[in-house]
Amino acid sequence: SRRIVSAASSQTIQANRFFGSTTAMGRKVAVLGAAGGIGQPLSLLLKLSPNVTELACYDIVGTPGVAADLSHIPSIASVTGNVPSSGTWPPSHDTGLEAALTGADIVVIPAGVPRKPGMTRDDLFNTNAGIVKALVEGCAKFCPGAILAIISNPVNSTVPIAAEILKKHGVYDPKKLCGVTTLDVIRANTFVGASMGCDPNEINVPVIGGHAGTTILPLYSQVPGFSPSDEELEAITVRTQFGGDEVVQAKAGAGSATLSMAYAGYVFTDKVLQAMNGADDIVQCAYVESSITDAAFFSSPCKFGPDGVEEVLGYGDITPYEQAWFDKMMPDLKGQIQKGVDYANP
Ligand code: NAI
Repeated sequence: SRRIVSAASSQTIQANRFFGSTTAMGRKVAVLGAAGGIGQPLSLLLKLSPNVTELACYDIVGTPGVAADLSHIPSIASVTGNVPSSGTWPPSHDTGLEAALTGADIVVIPAGVPRKPGMTRDDLFNTNAGIVKALVEGCAKFCPGAILAIISNPVNSTVPIAAEILKKHGVYDPKKLCGVTTLDVIRANTFVGASMGCDPNEINVPVIGGHAGTTILPLYSQVPGFSPSDEELEAITVRTQFGGDEVVQAKAGAGSATLSMAYAGYVFTDKVLQAMNGADDIVQCAYVESSITDAAFFSSPCKFGPDGVEEVLGYGDITPYEQAWFDKMMPDLKGQIQKGVDYANP
């Protein structure tokens, strides 16, 4: 009988550990645009994360199916699929959005239209600005303390729009608003790994600036052991800036990066969750309100903590080659930021 008792008590201990840790670290993540090309694989990866206990999938269509499908995957996260309550406008009156956002710790937003060949990210502005504005209004109302991770392009402008909307609602906290530029970082890591013949997961290229064409500035001079020729440096820099176009062209009208972006969005979100849960070594690039340059928003390495961005870190010394790109980028980046600010303040 001793053996039975000890087996039972060890099971109880394990159960307590399991539920104890998930209750203490209970984390709800909402994905807005969850039925889309990015939203579905992003939701899949978040469903698999041990750091997510509740996953709310919201989109204007399709999320009940996405959620039912994901709910059969054995992981600790419960899943809900939410659509707008019928005929609700504005979205801040939407009980579907309310259900998705209430209690959310992080809201990841990949809602909006993607590029087709020949389009720049700025060409998406007219459609996506309104979508982001409406969804962030919902966040201001239903989860004002959540960290927002904006994927919808043009990120250089949609993040300033989100900031202005949150300010209007009196709930703006710069520590809790990020544009996701992780795809630029993982592309840079991949390209260096291929060039050096090493595991790209061992590499971490700081990518600064914004998230569109020449506003993307990878700092290859800061990668230990990587010493490309001038030609190779130029090629890999431009490839990082325009890597998204390779995917847009290969998909030939069927959209832009979705799988690599879903992975990048997952990596970003999971690191934010790890920092929320107490990890004190989380540094990753994010496009945030920043005073390290004279652009109001800028992507650079950031230290994350329990409340989001704990410190916007500098980007260290840059080479004359990188400085030339930097000088070229700043007017464009500032213009795209202003475009977002103006949109939100007509
Ligand atoms: P998609 O068209 O496949 O999916 C977008 C989803 O958003 C659709 O399911 C649509 O129903 C949904 N949606 C539209 N309006 C909505 C609203 N008001 N509320 C909730 N959901 C709404 O597009 P995809 O490929 O997933 O791309 C989404 C966005 O992500 C695009 O703006 C794209 O440019 C951007 N993107 C950003 C990247 C980055 O590095 N930050 C990389 C790749 C894409």
